[in-house]
Amino acid sequence: MASISARGGLLVAAATAAALLAPAVSGAIVARDCARPGAACTIAETARRAGVHFGAIASTGQSDAERALLAEHFTSVTAENAMKWGEIAPRVGNYGFADADEIAAFAETNGMRLRGHTLAWGVMQMPSDLASTVAAAADPAARMSELLGEHFGTMVGRYGARVAQWDVVNEPLEVAGTVLAKNVFLDALGPGYLGLSFALARALAPGASLYLNEYVLSWPSPKLAALRTLVGNLRAGGVPIDGVGIQGHFYPFFPLPDRATMEQELRAIADLGVEIEITELDVSSWHFRDDPDPLARQAAFFGDVVSACMAVPSCRGITTWGIQDGDSWLDHAPPFDLAAPNDPLLFDRDLEPKPAYAAVRDAIATRAVPFEDEAWGVFRRVGKLRRDGLLRGPSVRTARRVVRRAAQMLRAERFADACDRLARGVRAANEATGPAVAEAAEAITALRLGLRCDEA
Ligand code: XIL
Repeated sequence: MASISARGGLLVAAATAAALLAPAVSGAIVARDCARPGAACTIAETARRAGVHFGAIASTGQSDAERALLAEHFTSVTAENAMKWGEIAPRVGNYGFADADEIAAFAETNGMRLRGHTLAWGVMQMPSDLASTVAAAADPAARMSELLGEHFGTMVGRYGARVAQWDVVNEPLEVAGTVLAKNVFLDALGPGYLGLSFALARALAPGASLYLNEYVLSWPSPKLAALRTLVGNLRAGGVPIDGVGIQGHFYPFFPLPDRATMEQELRAIADLGVEIEITELDVSSWHFRDDPDPLARQAAFFGDVVSACMAVPSCRGITTWGIQDGDSWLDHAPPFDLAAPNDPLLFDRDLEPKPAYAAVRDAIATRAVPFEDEAWGVFRRVGKLRRDGLLRGPSVRTARRVVRRAAQMLRAERFADACDRLARGVRAANEATGPAVAEAAEAITALRLGLRCDEA
């Protein structure tokens, strides 16, 4: 199992790292505040604390060591290929579930979220006879609707209970264009295939979050604007799209955007009223090839992408398209293979975290409020309730004193001591009088819950 080491510019000393990075033990008071930048926490611990997902892909070719990294450092899993239509059914109706089952079971065993990737993708990895089957039908449109219904039904029927989020449609737009890509679905059904796909998915998986997933070659771009228009129009027409997945492949040969542009583009999509995830993040090292410290530059760019997402409240998660640099699709997919090794991921070939790891973790931490700050917030709130005459009696003074003391202890990372003080704070709040007694007690209790005080 990899531990964070000083290698690659991380500041944590190797000797203490393993102990610090033991998985967040549930059933115990927190051991450290992962909301603090630089805290010796894994990305997974930090993401949980921040209430976001940070995932990576699973494939059946991964080693045990890679799977251990996946379980330890990530909170979400996407099957790299195993759930694509043509992978799970090389010919129409001819399903082999073993690989997808294995990945779904891995996610479940490790308490990880599963993204369903992907139900309707017209670009590649389709059953080899899908197009011919549809073309041979007397009514190709009806046959395609039927096949979509059968396929979605099969997938949601088998995995729906575990899949929190489906990429219902993948890559509907032309590669660098602004119109719908010509594909087997568009041929048979016209643009209505999008609405049909989402309607089918909603009926089958009413509780899942339904995503339209798209890749962009550059930011900003006419394609991003077209994506916004497409999603906006579909939603206005009642198509149940909950979220937009921005793949986030930062391919070689295409210019990298700056952080402000990324945030602006994500916000523009969020303004449609949808959730967003960055679903397939990788950053080719090609961009930094002439830099004296390519790893540091790559780390800074990863930090920019993640912090742009964290700055937009509707941006709920990020998935990297791979775990370690030795296993990235970019090295095999033309033309990106020309830049191999792309080394676009967070772990190197020795499965050691690269500088980008810490940059990502610290960017995620910005979404979470440090416990100390939360305690000062409670302190101020109780004070305001008292000033407003909503909380009265001598015990209010005690409540404020112990919360202030708890805040100081939290700064010193004396979590157990802080928990004791906060327990006194709850009692003191309950001994007060006035209409805000419950509100004050609940605010202190919420802080205790976050600290997992009662799980000692
Ligand atoms: C890629 C896989 O990583 C490769 O193993 C496979 O050969 C081709 O597909 N956009 C997507 C992903 O939505 O499904 C693609 O995954 C990468 C681009």
